[in-house]
Parts: sequence; C-alpha cells; structure tokens
Amino acid sequence: MQKRIGILTSGGDCPGLNCAIRAVVSHAKLQHDWEVLGIPYATQGLLERKTTSLNLHGLDLRGIDPLLSMGGTILGSINKGDTLAHASEIIASHRALALDALIAIGGDGSLAILHQLACQGNWNLVAIPKTIDNDVALTERAIGFDTAVNTIVDALNRLTFTAASHDRVMVVEVMGRTAGHLALHAGIAGGADCILIPEIPYSIDGVCHQINELRDRWGRKFAIVVVAEGAKTANDSSIAETQNFASLECGMGQYIANQIKSYNTLTDRLDVRVSILGHIQRGGIPSALDRLTATVFGKAAVDLIAREQYGQMVAWQNGRVVDVPIADVVARSPLPVAPDNYLVQTARCMGIYVGDG
Ligand code: F6P
Repeated sequence: MQKRIGILTSGGDCPGLNCAIRAVVSHAKLQHDWEVLGIPYATQGLLERKTTSLNLHGLDLRGIDPLLSMGGTILGSINKGDTLAHASEIIASHRALALDALIAIGGDGSLAILHQLACQGNWNLVAIPKTIDNDVALTERAIGFDTAVNTIVDALNRLTFTAASHDRVMVVEVMGRTAGHLALHAGIAGGADCILIPEIPYSIDGVCHQINELRDRWGRKFAIVVVAEGAKTANDSSIAETQNFASLECGMGQYIANQIKSYNTLTDRLDVRVSILGHIQRGGIPSALDRLTATVFGKAAVDLIAREQYGQMVAWQNGRVVDVPIADVVARSPLPVAPDNYLVQTARCMGIYVGDG
C-alpha cells in the first residue's frame, strides 16, 4: 500500500544520523515506493508544517552519496524549548500533514516528548535511538555512541604523549550528561588511569592515591584522569545534580583538577592540565559501526511501518535487531551504568581507579 511517511531528528546531534535518514529513504523508496517527507528541526518543523521531500540520490554529488560520511543531520535538530506547551498546535499540524507514519530519531528526552505527543494525537510513531551518551534503555547501541568513543580515544592517544613528556596529570572531561557510558568505554580503550562517572562516587583520596601509586610503584610520573561531566563524590552529589553541564563556568574537569592540585598529601606539587572535549565529541565522520547500526535501524524502522506495527523503537539486543515499546523505553531511560557491570569490573582488574573509596 502506498504510504506517506515523515522523518525527523530530535535532540542533540551525533554522527550517523544522516546514515539513518539515507537508509530510511532508500528502503522506503526502493522496496515500497513510499513518499518520504523530511521534517526540519523536529517538533519545530511539525509546528510550522514545514516539510522537504526526500528522494533517493537527492543529495548526490556527481553520483557520490555523501550522507554515509556526513556528521550532523541534514534535517536540523532542536534540544531546547517547551515543546509540550504547544502540544495541541503540533498535533493539529501533524494531522494537517496527513502522514501515515512518523519516524523519530532521538534520545531519551526527545523520545519521551514525542511519545507523549503521539499518545495524545494518536500518531503512528516509530523510533530509532541515537545519542552519544548511550543511555537509551532497552538497546545496547544507539547511533553516535561508537564514533564519540573513538573521538575520545583519539584525544586520549594525543594527550597521553604530551602528559608523559611533561610529567603532568591530564584531566579529560567528557560528555554523557547523567550517565558514564562514554567515559567508561573510552577510558578503558584509551588507557585512562582514573575514570570518574556519575554512577560510582569517587573520592579525591582515591584519585590521588592512584596518582601516587603510579609514581611510587611503577615510576610513572604522569596520569590520565577521564572525568564524566556528571561525576560526583559521595558528599558533593549536589554539584552534579544542580549543574547545567554545558553551561558550567567551572565544569567537573576543572573542579577535579583543582581538587588534585590542592591535595595536601602529595609530596610534590603536581602539574595538572585540563582538556574539555566538549562538542568535538558530537562531530566527525561516523565510524563504520555507527554507519552499520544506523543503516540496520533505518531499514528495521521502515519494516515496522510496512507491518503497521507502531509505538515501537528499533533496538539492538544480543547481536540482533529487535523492537521494543517506546513506552517501556521512556519509562526506563536514561539508563545508567550498573556499578557492578563487566566493564567496571574489567577496568578495576586493569588497575584503573573507578571510584568508590
Ligand atoms: O545528550 C547529548 C549531549 O551531548 C550530552 O552529553 C551533553 O551534556 C549535552 O548533550 C550537551 O547539550 P548541548 O548541545 O545543548 O550543549
């Protein structure tokens, strides 16, 4: 049956979004000959009833399809604003667009809002998870996470050599909001000595003990400390809970660097530097794994629509693509790192300090 479907990207951008758009358009056009409408700036575009017709090869440059390798999103995105205050207008606009189904590519925050709108407006919604934070529940993978991990590991490779050359402690602040997945994955892969994540309180005694141990036991005069932007101690949880991570004048990286500098049991005064990787983590060429995930998810989302199976999110579980109710996803997100998970255990076995004591 001929269908008219919409697609939007919502929340913070990440590498791989364009691959997912490409996969949806290819599958919908080649296998079904459906009409695909791109909705710019997510609910903002819906509200304004703006659409753009998406066609195969629409972005071809002399036969080269750049969408696989382009970061960001050609549709634009928003992650601010009081969307639900305009719920009835958005629902009316959605009705006017006469879509048979809508594919939303989003993280936990966006999916919660879109799920609410879909319930109120009786939309046929299908979701694809994306976020560099990898904290969408019920899926082991979200588009963008792998590239961001690789970006951080690349930065750690660079920072390790300069830290070693100058005998410095290098504090590297990474994103992740309230979750430590990014810090944990990249910290292990990038050779961090300390990984501080929101889910496991750290103590400055623990961090400085690790730095001292490296020097006294192994003769290492430098250290790499990876700090998730939401990291916290057992006592200062208020810092993480009240902070607006992106706009903090003194982020967690600087905060921890200051703590290390003023720690009075260190015999030598440590030379400490801070690198805040910031939005660099959201950019770049999508990794092969993110391209693959996005392509598989885009195809699976179109399959759900073909089966008229709505209210579902495509997900990766145990090496397979499955689909799960969006309602269950939003009820369980954002998904934290389980303090006893195998990566935390692995990090500790590698001699990395991961907090607690
Ligand atoms: O959710 C993705 C994310 O990059 C978080 O890791 C980070 O805290 C936040 O978005 C930054 O948001 P903004 O783009 O609004 O600065």
